[in-house]
Amino acid sequence: MWKHVVLFALATGTSCHVLDYIDPLIGSNGGGNVFAGATLPYGMAKAVADVDGQNTGGFSTDNSNVTGFSSMHDAGTGGNPSLGNFPLFPQFCPGNDLNNCRFPKDSRKLPYKNDTVVARPGYFALTLDNNISAEMTTTKHAALYQFSFPDAKAENGTTLHPLILVDLDDLWLSRQNASVSVDAATGRISGNGTFLPSFGAGSYVLHFCVDFAGASIFDSGMYVNDRAGTEPKELYVTRGFNLFYIQAGSFVRFHRPSDGTISARFGVSYISSDKACQNAEHEIPDWDFDVIRARAEDAWIEKLDHISITPGGASEDLQNTFYSGLYRNMINPQDYTGENPQWESDEPYFDSFYCIWDAFRAQHPMLTIIDPNEQSRMVRSLLDTYKHRGWLPDCQMSLSRGWTQGGSNADVVLVDAYVKNLTGIDWSLAYEAVIKDAEVEPLDWSNQGRGGLQSWKRLNYIPYLDYDYLGFGTNSRSISRTVEYAYNDFVIATLSIGLGKDPSVYLQRASNWRNLYKSDQTSFINGTDTGFVGFFQPKYLNGTWGYQDPIACSPLATFCSLTSNPSETFESSVWEYQFYVPQDMAALIDTLGGAETLIKRLDYAFESGLLDISNEPVFLTVYAYHYAGRPALSTKRVHTYIPSRFNSSYTGLPGNDDSGAMGSFSAFSMMGLFPNAGQNVYLISAPFFESWSINMGNDTVATVKTVNFDPAYKNIYIQSVTLNGGQYKKSWIGHEFFAQGWTLEITLGDAESDWGTKDEDLPPSMSTSQIGHMSL
Ligand SMILES: *[C@@H]1O[C@H](CO)[C@@H](O)[C@H](O)[C@H]1NC(C)=O
Ligand SMILES: *[C@@H]1O[C@H](CO)[C@@H](O)[C@H](O)[C@H]1NC(C)=O
Ligand SMILES: *[C@@H]1O[C@H](CO)[C@@H](O)[C@H](O)[C@H]1NC(C)=O
Ligand SMILES: *[C@@H]1O[C@H](CO)[C@@H](O)[C@H](O)[C@H]1NC(C)=O
Ligand SMILES: *[C@@H]1O[C@H](CO)[C@@H](O)[C@H](O)[C@H]1NC(C)=O
Ligand SMILES: *[C@@H]1O[C@H](CO)[C@@H](O)[C@H](O)[C@H]1NC(C)=O
Ligand SMILES: *[C@@H]1O[C@H](CO)[C@@H](O)[C@H](O)[C@H]1NC(C)=O
Ligand SMILES: *[C@@H]1O[C@H](CO)[C@@H](O)[C@H](O)[C@H]1NC(C)=O
Ligand SMILES: *[C@@H]1O[C@H](CO)[C@@H](O)[C@H](O)[C@H]1NC(C)=O
Ligand SMILES: *[C@@H]1O[C@H](CO)[C@@H](O)[C@H](O)[C@H]1NC(C)=O
Ligand SMILES: *[C@@H]1O[C@H](CO)[C@@H](O)[C@H](O)[C@H]1NC(C)=O
Repeated sequence: MWKHVVLFALATGTSCHVLDYIDPLIGSNGGGNVFAGATLPYGMAKAVADVDGQNTGGFSTDNSNVTGFSSMHDAGTGGNPSLGNFPLFPQFCPGNDLNNCRFPKDSRKLPYKNDTVVARPGYFALTLDNNISAEMTTTKHAALYQFSFPDAKAENGTTLHPLILVDLDDLWLSRQNASVSVDAATGRISGNGTFLPSFGAGSYVLHFCVDFAGASIFDSGMYVNDRAGTEPKELYVTRGFNLFYIQAGSFVRFHRPSDGTISARFGVSYISSDKACQNAEHEIPDWDFDVIRARAEDAWIEKLDHISITPGGASEDLQNTFYSGLYRNMINPQDYTGENPQWESDEPYFDSFYCIWDAFRAQHPMLTIIDPNEQSRMVRSLLDTYKHRGWLPDCQMSLSRGWTQGGSNADVVLVDAYVKNLTGIDWSLAYEAVIKDAEVEPLDWSNQGRGGLQSWKRLNYIPYLDYDYLGFGTNSRSISRTVEYAYNDFVIATLSIGLGKDPSVYLQRASNWRNLYKSDQTSFINGTDTGFVGFFQPKYLNGTWGYQDPIACSPLATFCSLTSNPSETFESSVWEYQFYVPQDMAALIDTLGGAETLIKRLDYAFESGLLDISNEPVFLTVYAYHYAGRPALSTKRVHTYIPSRFNSSYTGLPGNDDSGAMGSFSAFSMMGLFPNAGQNVYLISAPFFESWSINMGNDTVATVKTVNFDPAYKNIYIQSVTLNGGQYKKSWIGHEFFAQGWTLEITLGDAESDWGTKDEDLPPSMSTSQIGHMSL
């Protein structure tokens, strides 16, 4: 069933493997926080070396020290390091004295040999400074490690015994309590621990089970802080007296085998340690590292080999950026089906939606194209979560509710799937879920639903310093929540129309962004007037305007998050959020004073540094020129960021990858089709490759070809387009392009043309076109 060798034809005539274009180390330094280790697509087990530097995703190429090798991670997230539970660490105890081994993280950590790092889909390896090397690969719920120990001797020539410890902590040192036991006869170590989610409420319990092979056991035991003993064989630790953090775990020492290699098979489970053992036994019965690794590679090839490009001279850097971006789309969310202890269900269960605020804009739309079956399963998982918890999540990690950043953006993920005809989804349940978001305020809206709904319905905006006694959350972000809630209500209207329900109340609320537009608001930078008048501003309950400097929270000012410097705009400025009206850019243009004004504002915002390419709210703004009838300027703008801010270097991401959000932004941009998520709309721009195609299955192949392609990117202006051979003047196209396997042929030139500039060619806006299933 596995297509073992899939050859990948390139225009150069050489044949290569798609995996050769994937470098998991892209974004492993400089804040990308990617997961650079071994995983299956959406796999729960994710094995990598953990470092003490930029370790949010475990490993970084920042030359910091390795603290262990662990099997659970998140990908691309910001803030606290996520997961990294129960790391293994291999070492020798000098003089074979147990107490000469280094147990706590800070004393055992070691540099890695920079030139030994190998990161490939499904595989990761490096060698520590002490010459012990580690290789790892994974199945769905288990990791297989191979540690190679050099032939180390004590001073009198005795061979040293390799030791492998399991530490009961995680990357963030969030452990509350943990239990571990070791079987002296078999060396099996199993246990569990209670930890805190890295960006959410509550706690979670994770279980593990590790077996060893390749060497006979010398002894085993426990350690607590920097002392160890061969008794007891079981241990329970708490957070520690006075919250003094106890470092503890278990170890096994071995007689060094002649080839020096000891394997560790590490099973994980959220159900029980027995289940963790079963997962490992079932998925890695034969301990055959090469077979497990080949299966992981095949799984990745299967996910990506239906996407092909003819680079036409485009650099390897761009090709690597493209495929690696697609690859990173399939690391999170993680498929925890069968591993959810919170409810019983036959539906899929995905976790690490981390966070939907980041992923709804480009990552989920990308999965809808390149992996629609899994995207459909993710939507079903969101709905099953709604069914059992009563609310759609906005962010989710380690079985816990993550913090909501803006609107109820799972609504957009659902409706995006709806307008793109994903199958297998219970749309009446989806309708119920999004209506609940719009109509019912949860007591705790910090991690589900929306806050301020009474004001939203009565005043039609979220007030500055709202008086909200119905529910409780971080009482900030009134501007960004207003624009996001308005868009959420727009997509609810779309679903309502599709299902034959009355959309009118949601269509009305979809215009609520207008109520925070203060037409005489000016904006100064260091005392210099930007010259632009009219911005969103906070408004009190009584209708009086409040004030937030339009440049506050921009890169020219101070960062604003939920906890640091909470403001009326979340992680971005009024300047950025002024462009966030995805449902009605035509009305926004009218409000701001016309298409020319919008273009001037966009140019100013990008060129002054007010906009932040390292964060997701900017994604659609790069393409906002389309709505002003100047699609050429969107293409021109995106070339200012790719490859200068998105490239294949280790520091090649402008900010946190956020689960693959950055990867999908760059991949969509290079394809020359950018989604307006929640609508059946892709904005057309010039691709970065001579052609590309995606085989959607069933002999359905969607293709974009160019004429006059120029890898030096002087010819980035679309002159004309044909769709399946017929002239095509609109600057956008629907998902039918993919679903029905159409062909776009784009003729390029070195100057802007009138293609896509006429009113009738603009992408749809709520106030100027029919909404719902917009057909061509
Ligand atoms: C190796 O070190 C160099 C120089 O510090 C650095 O640029 C590079 O990213 C490192 N590579 C890895 C794999 O850590
Ligand atoms: C890594 O550990 C070594 C000692 O083993 C130490 O000299 C070095 O400063 C550490 N590096 C970092 C980045 O902490
Ligand atoms: C060599 O040293 C080790 C560790 O110090 C000790 O356990 C062992 O008994 C010594 N062997 C001999 C032959 O002296
Ligand atoms: C590791 O191996 C290198 C090269 O064989 C050797 O020079 C070095 O001394 C070894 N280091 C340790 C800690 O064994
Ligand atoms: C472990 O810690 C969690 C979170 O603090 C607590 O709810 C639980 O009762 C503790 N379990 C044990 C066995 O101490
Ligand atoms: C963790 O393991 C201990 C020891 O086996 C067991 O008593 C406890 O019930 C386990 N905790 C959970 C939450 O399964
Ligand atoms: C504003 O002025 C300060 C102090 O002169 C300077 O550091 C800062 O870069 C200026 N900001 C902008 C956006 O020009
Ligand atoms: C409205 O409320 C704000 C904040 O409490 C207050 O500063 C302002 O004076 C009020 N406006 C009126 C007209 O009462
Ligand atoms: C690659 O992207 C990074 C992050 O945005 C940027 O700092 C770097 O300058 C870029 N490199 C190149 C060669 O453009
Ligand atoms: C494509 O083929 C699969 C089975 O291989 C089938 O389930 C699916 O319905 C087909 N889709 C279309 C659009 O024909
Ligand atoms: C979805 O299905 C409807 C009804 O078959 C069809 O009209 C529409 O074009 C489809 N939309 C997409 C995006 O394929």
